[in-house]
Amino acid sequence: MTRILVPGSTGQVGWELQSTLAPLGTVIAPDRKQMDLANPDSIRQAIRDARPEIIVNAAGYTTVDKAESEPDLALQVNGVAPGIMAEEAKRLGAILIHYSTDYVFDGELSRPYTENDAPNPVNTYGKSKLAGERAIEAVGGNYLVLRTSWVYGARRTNFVLTVLRLARDKPELSMVRDQTGSPTWARALAEATADLLRRRELIPAHSGIYHLSAAGHTSRYDFANAIIGSAREISGMRDGWAQVKAITSDQYPLPAVRPRSLVTDREKVKRVFGVGMTAWEVQLPACICELAPTLGSPTDPVSRPR
Ligand SMILES: NC(=O)c1ccc[n+]([C@@H]2O[C@H](COP(=O)([O-])OP(=O)(O)OC[C@H]3O[C@@H](n4cnc5c(N)ncnc54)[C@H](OP(=O)(O)O)[C@@H]3O)[C@@H](O)[C@H]2O)c1
Repeated sequence: MTRILVPGSTGQVGWELQSTLAPLGTVIAPDRKQMDLANPDSIRQAIRDARPEIIVNAAGYTTVDKAESEPDLALQVNGVAPGIMAEEAKRLGAILIHYSTDYVFDGELSRPYTENDAPNPVNTYGKSKLAGERAIEAVGGNYLVLRTSWVYGARRTNFVLTVLRLARDKPELSMVRDQTGSPTWARALAEATADLLRRRELIPAHSGIYHLSAAGHTSRYDFANAIIGSAREISGMRDGWAQVKAITSDQYPLPAVRPRSLVTDREKVKRVFGVGMTAWEVQLPACICELAPTLGSPTDPVSRPR
């Protein structure tokens, strides 16, 4: 059986990967104690012990605002650790799949960003992720860096779970209308990753950076409305949902500056691997359907206080 190492298995994408990759081999899913990305020796030891043919790195320092006050840790986990994984993967002749972000761009371009456009991250998280991409490229070997966007799912903290919770607690939610992205369901991203690995014989000739997120794009404001609309339909609870008010980023300053209009071109991954993703409007209700049995209940992950 192919041995597949999945660091970050407690996270949104890593959790989903454990089931989507299971048909492809034996999934080895170390937790942070077993493979600490802030510790190079721990990374090397975990990979040498596991001897994987494939590494899918779903671990990362993902708290965008906190990264502004912890730049060294963010850089170690997002910028340095991927290079170490690439070195170990190359030594073993293994494939490395790594997730990066569209936050490597500044969002100032008026057309969709392709993989050939120059990155220019505007915050510490984006800089640390770009450093990780570059570390992997510098090592080389057989790898895919998948830049994704606005990931959500039924686990951990994310925009969908936050909106669902606040929309039942408050009469009005203020959401920025001047930031765009492509909301991507962690399950769909894990499935697309499995599809890429089903075509892994193509990877040695096509190692590189690829944009991979749900088709289409939207603003935080429109996404929040879609979340509430979908939850209202699926739950059958017609009343008791917040109104969404549009604001600008200037009215809601955060520690980390966000890129504004981020639209990525996802044609390359389709052209090379024949892999694409469905529209965010299709993925969102599928995720909310999974949450439906517990929507509005006091013990569910949505309404539980956090
Ligand atoms: N979330 C987004 O909107 C988004 C957007 C674009 C790209 N991405 C990228 O997609 C990937 C997956 O994101 P996600 O949303 O699934 O992340 P997530 O839910 O925040 O999970 C992060 C995972 O990384 C692990 N981790 C953090 N620091 C670690 C360390 N020092 N050593 C070992 N493990 C560590 C966490 O373990 P613990 O459980 O121990 O904390 C967790 O398993 C990341 O590379 C992220 O940068 C995410």
